[in-house]
Amino acid sequence: MLPDLSQKKSYVREKFSRVTRRYDLVNTLGSFGLDHWWRYRTVRKISTCSGLVLDLCAGTLTLAKEIVRQRPRPVVALDITAEMLVYGKFRLARHPASPFIFPVQGDAENLPLQDGTFSAATVAFGIRNLPHPERCFAEVFRVLKPRGKFVILEFSRPKAPLFAPLYRFYLFHFMPLLGGSLTGDREAYDYLARSIESFPDQEEICTKLEASGFREVNFEELTLGVVTIYQASKP
Ligand SMILES: C[S@@+](CC[C@H](N)C(=O)[O-])C[C@H]1O[C@@H](n2cnc3c(N)ncnc32)[C@H](O)[C@@H]1O
Repeated sequence: MLPDLSQKKSYVREKFSRVTRRYDLVNTLGSFGLDHWWRYRTVRKISTCSGLVLDLCAGTLTLAKEIVRQRPRPVVALDITAEMLVYGKFRLARHPASPFIFPVQGDAENLPLQDGTFSAATVAFGIRNLPHPERCFAEVFRVLKPRGKFVILEFSRPKAPLFAPLYRFYLFHFMPLLGGSLTGDREAYDYLARSIESFPDQEEICTKLEASGFREVNFEELTLGVVTIYQASKP
């Protein structure tokens, strides 16, 4: 069962504060290292944006680091779970990207940020965790500058006849085993599978983005639809 919408924020926060130290290891092992490629491809979509970037649901700052690696520019990295940000910043302590990354604890559905501030905004594997993604879309629209870009990386459901059931088995049976044994919190990885299963399909996400005011909305599947990159622009 998924948490009730009214409890989702506290549930998600508690889960991420418990798996913080092993979060990236499980991601990389569970995706056979493809998570780095997926983040690389996501950040390429904002390669022309040179100003301030907002990375939402920034976690341990993996995407923020890739944003700076591809093009040194300041990144505000916002997450609701302080443990994830603190651990990420600690791990990056002597990394050349660190001075460019500014962690902020906050809620992606209610941004403590001024209107029209950012050239681009990103969110990797975060939208699925929000009780009301459309509130986040409206907030991103508000804080982006005109012609600002919004890019989302999120899990999706493969549709290929042979691959889809195999992947589903892997997600529901192997990932909880792997995540549970490495983090001690199997439930967090049961939640991962259930949240992917119940996440809206790609067309619905695009419709919500358009309803929030975004234009040039489109999506691209990677790895047979295991993940999807969504792109949108503020007019
Ligand atoms: C699956 S992790 C993704 C982390 C990182 N973006 C990555 O690529 O690995 C999801 C993150 O979203 C954060 N999160 C969940 N709900 C949030 C909210 N309402 N506002 C901001 N961050 C949130 C969690 O704390 C967690 O760090």
